[in-house]
Amino acid sequence: MSRETLPQENASGADASDDAGPRSQLGRLQRIAAGEHLPSEIHPAVMEETPILEIDQFNLWYGSKQALFDVSMNIPTGKVTALIGPSGCGKSTLLRSVNRMNDLIDAVRTSGDMRLYDQSILSPDVDVIELRKLMGMVFQKPNPFPMSIFENVVYPLRIDGENNRRVLDEVCEKSLRGAALWDEVKDRLHESGLSLSGGQQQRLCIARAIASDPEVLLLDEPCSALDPVSSGKVEDLISELSGQYTILVVTHNMQQAARVSDFTAFMYLGHLIEYGHTEVLFNDPRLRETDDYITGRFG
Ligand SMILES: Nc1ncnc2c1ncn2[C@@H]1O[C@H](COP(=O)(O)OP(=O)(O)OP(=O)(O)O)[C@@H](O)[C@H]1O
Ligand SMILES: [Mg+2]
Repeated sequence: MSRETLPQENASGADASDDAGPRSQLGRLQRIAAGEHLPSEIHPAVMEETPILEIDQFNLWYGSKQALFDVSMNIPTGKVTALIGPSGCGKSTLLRSVNRMNDLIDAVRTSGDMRLYDQSILSPDVDVIELRKLMGMVFQKPNPFPMSIFENVVYPLRIDGENNRRVLDEVCEKSLRGAALWDEVKDRLHESGLSLSGGQQQRLCIARAIASDPEVLLLDEPCSALDPVSSGKVEDLISELSGQYTILVVTHNMQQAARVSDFTAFMYLGHLIEYGHTEVLFNDPRLRETDDYITGRFG
């Protein structure tokens, strides 16, 4: 994004008086791009929710390059929270931090904390395998394993050594029903997961994530590789699963964020800019920069 497309001043008034001098004339996003740290605009509605996950002054570096800056946000229990923002602003990095997938990258360094039910998930003694069961993750591109539909779903149980057929059958059906896929595949459970359509494959991946009985579902642009009909089915599924699970979903699609989420967080260059109730954030954002982004004036 070019600097010229950024807003020239902050019309919200929110930070116009919080510091003097020439910088206060610049828009918030330009000031962030110039290296300033500005507090996030977090609506009181978020703070009224019971958090399942608390992200506390979290910073992340890839080598010498900082990708997340002092991100503090509570993720409300049993609600759908959407992460939006331009490409490269750190949405996937934040999602991958929550289930410690960034541990797999040598050069990654972090500071700050993340707590699930008040327990740090970043401390070295956390069992990362167990943590990832609690934080089921689904990626942009469906990634079924090259095995049957049945084995795809029960995979998390198999790695725990579960071989009781009755248990596996039960979890398979429950998870596929939960992922709104059962009726479409119940007669072909022993066919390859790769034989399904893209949208079905994505719901299969969601079924696999559900099978390990997670607390949180992390969905990184789960619909972006899907046609509109499949995408609609996955969106419906996200809405159906909310309440039962806490869902954190990254999306580039503003309409989708508005349709499926209860809360929305807008990120920019690794900073959390504004976070609030989706309806308020889309219809009456506090910051002009958020308005500019959601109305497509930049990004
Ligand atoms: N493995 C990595 N090594 C080094 N830098 C990385 C790595 N992954 C991401 N980055 C950098 O971190 C920043 C945030 O990237 P991230 O993938 O989290 O953004 P994003 O918001 O998910 O973008 P998109 O919308 O394009 O998926 C970018 O500048 C990116 O280049
Ligand atoms: Mg991403």
